[in-house]
Amino acid sequence: MFKRFRRLRINETLRNMVAETSLSANDFLYPLFVIEGSNIKNEVKSMPGVFQMSLDTILTECKELEELGLNSIILFAIPDVKDSIGSECLCDESLISRTIQAIKKDFPNMFIVTDLCFCEYTDHGHCGIIDPITKSVDNDKTLEISAQQALVHAKAGADMIAPSGMMDGIIKTLRTALDENGYENLPIMAYSSKFASGYYGPFGDVAQSAPSYGDRKSYQMNPANRLEAISESLADEEEGADILMVKPALAFLDILRDVRNASKLPLAAYNVSGEYAMLKCAGAAGLIDYERVMMETLLSFKRAGADIIISYHAKEACEILKRK
Ligand code: PBG
Ligand code: ZN
Repeated sequence: MFKRFRRLRINETLRNMVAETSLSANDFLYPLFVIEGSNIKNEVKSMPGVFQMSLDTILTECKELEELGLNSIILFAIPDVKDSIGSECLCDESLISRTIQAIKKDFPNMFIVTDLCFCEYTDHGHCGIIDPITKSVDNDKTLEISAQQALVHAKAGADMIAPSGMMDGIIKTLRTALDENGYENLPIMAYSSKFASGYYGPFGDVAQSAPSYGDRKSYQMNPANRLEAISESLADEEEGADILMVKPALAFLDILRDVRNASKLPLAAYNVSGEYAMLKCAGAAGLIDYERVMMETLLSFKRAGADIIISYHAKEACEILKRK
């Protein structure tokens, strides 16, 4: 008696037929980092296999991605010139605009999500404008220029906007600005549960966006809090978010499941830089079977409730899926 699950597991075809979750190229959103210049492909030291790329190199990369069936990217731009308000990203000649336009021209089917924040563009590395008196981020001033940044992305042809700065009211502000300017069909993916996490460490290297002083604890969430994550997510839904997100993913699988149960919106998991670096490092040291652990980790996000997985592993995962 009680052999049913074993019976269902013995044959591989049957095991796959009754599998409750699976991975496919459609699940992934792949982060790409663009920098000025040409013919550049700088590997990030703390993230082997992740590169800062110039626009021409990104186009070659997009070709490889398309061949793997990986048709969605999230773009981060790292400009040469930074200032206190991140003005580089507020004009139509910005690096991100030029990149979106060039990708869309050669790869019209590539789905382009833009990360909307200021830390890559400001000389102080914070996610918004700094109030000169309190020295902390001025939420409402940041909202105003965020709307401007969103319109720059929309005008260049972005398919979805993902504001990552964790300002209060950002979703409503962007929704209103997009609607008023004829972009009512452009979706917004909210970084709705974004925790102040040590797992973002290596990202500071690739995006050159680590704060020059202080931290992000005043605008990102406390990892100790579970109810706050649900309530922030529901607030973003209320403000008009089309997709919710939990970030980081691996140490926050409980939150993914909670948000999945609390909202009917599609849900993304952001498998962040430190999570990627850990597996790469343990794999390179021969301590784990890298590919196996990677696929198991990615599957855990689906199982926990994610519809979309944002991951630096996405390209490798799609190569494995294609081999099968
Ligand atoms: C910037 C931003 C960060 C990440 C995505 N957008 C860093 C941060 O908030 O400190 C982290 C991504 C990663 O670690 O992979 N707002
Ligand atoms: Zn930021």
